[in-house]
Amino acid sequence: MNTRINFAGIKMKNPVTVASGTFGYGREFHNFFDLSKLGGIITKGTSLKPRSGNKPPRICETASGILNSIGLQNPGIEYFAQNDLPFLKKFDTAIIVNACGSTVDEYVELCKILNKLDIDGVELNLSCPNVKAGCMAFGNTYDGVKEITSKVRKVLDKPLIVKLTPNVTDIASIAKGAEDAGADGVSLINTLLGMKIDIHTRKPILANNTGGLSGPAVKPVAIRMVYQVSQAVNIPILGMGGIINGEDAIEFMLAGATAISIGAGNFIDPYTSINTISEIKNYMIKNNIENINDIIGKVQIN
Ligand SMILES: Cc1cc2nc3c(=O)[nH]c(=O)nc-3n(C[C@H](O)[C@H](O)[C@H](O)COP(=O)(O)O)c2cc1C
Repeated sequence: MNTRINFAGIKMKNPVTVASGTFGYGREFHNFFDLSKLGGIITKGTSLKPRSGNKPPRICETASGILNSIGLQNPGIEYFAQNDLPFLKKFDTAIIVNACGSTVDEYVELCKILNKLDIDGVELNLSCPNVKAGCMAFGNTYDGVKEITSKVRKVLDKPLIVKLTPNVTDIASIAKGAEDAGADGVSLINTLLGMKIDIHTRKPILANNTGGLSGPAVKPVAIRMVYQVSQAVNIPILGMGGIINGEDAIEFMLAGATAISIGAGNFIDPYTSINTISEIKNYMIKNNIENINDIIGKVQIN
């Protein structure tokens, strides 16, 4: 049985990765299982300088999901390179750094540093507000995505994956901006903008008022977007949004994802990612699938 895949030039022993911001830099999970079992680890969003994030409360539960407004808290790239990367390198798994910034220049400077590190690839989080463009997310327009991707492409020789925001009208045309600018792959979806109000205090639960929704609640939206993007671009897709088991993972792959990420599912059960790997293998055995690559994009549209 072959579960190996090649996602955007990154070789993985299976298609299962853990999503940015839900697995830290791996330390919180390595006592539960051997991280080498994972196809890859996508790090917490990392910026040029340390960021303290938003005020708490920053996370709350919703029906079949969670809302978060962490605000990209992270120790900065220098700390990561000195302390977290050596830890992650102990494991035989692909290391992809999720990169975030507030200006195009910040992304470019960060990616110059990332280019020199011993990592397998970079995932560019374009859901961050661009402080020089009215705080509109970089990923909201074709032109915005194309501009930042091409500037980063010039300084980054490693595999470049552009992470798309679902808070747009036509995600397929925006994915094209990443492809046209030379990205090796796209990942989707990031969280859907949401809000929850405490009816007793009449105040929003999150200190930031709004936050990003993820977990099983968003899965049908994510599947639809992965399918639409797969029809629009020729670069591979890392699919995510509500995956908590092998069946969910297979659904994403049929929709067109080459690899998948598990996010909120890691909070429900720390073993979700490795259980998903076993469940994918069970599905392959039951359905006589010898090579996992054979199911990518094989949804049979009515
Ligand atoms: C607490 C939390 C923190 C997150 N932080 C990041 C981040 O730093 N960068 C990023 O690109 N996505 C971040 N995400 C989004 C996830 O990587 C993923 O795209 C999204 O949650 C959908 O997957 P899920 O439904 O499996 O959680 C975060 C999600 C959560 C729940």
